[in-house]
Amino acid sequence: MPRSARVRAPKSITKKKPTRTPKPRLADIADRHALYQASVQVPEADVEFFVRAFRKMRRRDPQLMREDFCGTAYLSCSWAQSGPKRRAFGIDLDAPTLAWGREHNLAALSAAARKRVELLQGNVLDGLGPKSDLTCALNFSYCVFKTRELLRRYFEVVRENLVADGVFITEIYGGTEAIIEIEDEREVEFERPVGDFTYRWDQAEYNPITHDTLCHIHFDFRDGSKLERAFTYDWRLWTVPELRELLREAGFREVEVWWEGVDEDGEGSGEFSPTEREENQESWLVYLVAAK
Ligand SMILES: C[S@@+](CC[C@H](N)C(=O)[O-])C[C@H]1O[C@@H](n2cnc3c(N)ncnc32)[C@H](O)[C@@H]1O
Repeated sequence: MPRSARVRAPKSITKKKPTRTPKPRLADIADRHALYQASVQVPEADVEFFVRAFRKMRRRDPQLMREDFCGTAYLSCSWAQSGPKRRAFGIDLDAPTLAWGREHNLAALSAAARKRVELLQGNVLDGLGPKSDLTCALNFSYCVFKTRELLRRYFEVVRENLVADGVFITEIYGGTEAIIEIEDEREVEFERPVGDFTYRWDQAEYNPITHDTLCHIHFDFRDGSKLERAFTYDWRLWTVPELRELLREAGFREVEVWWEGVDEDGEGSGEFSPTEREENQESWLVYLVAAK
């Protein structure tokens, strides 16, 4: 541009408009661990179920609970908070997830309850930590073990780390919809500023030869932004008979299957009871309760 052409513009034009900071997208401010906890975990219901199933089997109350694959230790913290004699030991491989749990879940406990929770970074196959009354492995985390040998080894380690009358509780899902590529979504109530969001469970791949399944969790927000693949799981989808056989091979004496009842709308009632025969369903989730 020639010098002469550099005419000074009137003040009104040069005046800088106040710059508005663009509003951050909800996907950028949302915390994936908080969203996960709000979407898939109901620790109070797990605690209630554990106590009921343990009492039925052992006629006493469990005190030390081990949470394998504890993630953010939401359940361990809820366990310790739920009674002055209840202690929890949580173990997970992932240091950042454990750190998040310490900062958000452990720190939120009363000082007394906090002292009753111990968290450790480690591999559940290594048999670390104290012997527990009750060990749990929830949200299908053991499905990372894709061979019978590895899963049996894991169950053996669980059994070795239980007291003489200890109990192991885990879950499995299934049904005709568990083995197809499908996306399932539901609304989740959540606090501001993120506000209510949509949780999407994405069964992206399923191989009928190996039962390998690749699943993702996505979150969609009110402003249209999305957190795609917030979590990814590369699992083998085990079946109830396979799990029972492996638990027995690992030395567990008895393995009960607790099935969820349905309410008048045909939805899961949240009430589980032991059973040996059920009608096939599109989608089900059971607890397995194994006695040492
Ligand atoms: C599906 S999340 C479960 C989180 C939480 N326990 C729940 O019930 O929602 C699986 C967790 O298992 C952990 N994990 C995977 N393999 C593991 C292993 N071999 N030993 C310990 N933790 C493991 C991952 O780091 C992850 O936090």
